[in-house]
Amino acid sequence: MANLKKPARIGVLTSGGDAPGMNAVIRAIVRTAGSQGTSVLGIRRGYSGLIGSDMEELSPRSVDRILTAGGTMLYTARSEEMFTESGIQKAAATCKHMGIDGLVVIGGDGSFQGALKLAQQGISVIGVPATIDNDIACTEYSIGFDTACNTALECVDKLRDTMQSHERCSVVELMGHRAGHLALHVGVAAGATCILLPERPVNVEMDIIEPIRMGRLKGRHHHLIIVAEGYGSAQDIASKVETYTGIDARVTILGHIQRGGSPTAQDRVIATQMGYHAAELLLAGQSGRVVISKDGDVMDCDMETGLSQKKDLCQSLFEAAQRVTT
Ligand code: F6P
Repeated sequence: MANLKKPARIGVLTSGGDAPGMNAVIRAIVRTAGSQGTSVLGIRRGYSGLIGSDMEELSPRSVDRILTAGGTMLYTARSEEMFTESGIQKAAATCKHMGIDGLVVIGGDGSFQGALKLAQQGISVIGVPATIDNDIACTEYSIGFDTACNTALECVDKLRDTMQSHERCSVVELMGHRAGHLALHVGVAAGATCILLPERPVNVEMDIIEPIRMGRLKGRHHHLIIVAEGYGSAQDIASKVETYTGIDARVTILGHIQRGGSPTAQDRVIATQMGYHAAELLLAGQSGRVVISKDGDVMDCDMETGLSQKKDLCQSLFEAAQRVTT
């Protein structure tokens, strides 16, 4: 969708779980719009800030020194109210009252659902994919994923030392919501014995217990099982390992540490590219688009179409993981 008027003022908000690199997107949007005389309102706490008019003018100087900072300078939240008719009306009214001609929503699928409702109220909206889950189907990459992979991998590598010393099995639960992308990538990078993913059911005896028994017979002194939170309970897996192999097992749930940290070069670069592209789309009068990564480049797709797609695991990586990790 495109309209002719170049926006005099745009808004930007971060919504859903935060992700390292969100600040780099905000910085790119503010700098790009500012260079073309368009002012930017930073809306705090996601859609709650839009509904409650909690916002501040952002100048190119406002975004100095945030490129290296994890999290989001605008705070974030999940807004139930945005999924009510009155919430949508209040949000749209704020946009009109504040003279916001266009809005960039930085977040995941749920955040883009809210953006679509604003588009139906005549507000120009652009989505930028940012979630450590990397589960947004229309884009090959979501901002924050690389940083989260490296943060989790650093923790898992540290666990390996102590598990080796005690000849134990380490069962590590990773985030990912209902997807296994984070667990699959970290599992391969860490050389896990087993990687348990919601998208790929396993047979406990054949796919978990047997590889550990065989590893021990081959002289392996420690074992690593990566469990995506969407698969199930890491404690349950650890109990089964102890019961059926007699090997000591310890559970580590990495939790929210995976969401923190300074964004990696990859996340800073793609966030800058995506923020720039999002601002350019609004300045060109576009709306209802999601900025995506495809074939190693940054482009955009229709938001509604993008949200209707489903994302499976990378099958070739899954097969490599099965062959190489035993
Ligand atoms: O969507 C990102 C994510 O980190 C998921 O991986 C995780 O399940 C969820 O957010 C945790 O949500 P909260 O930060 O609200 O506890």
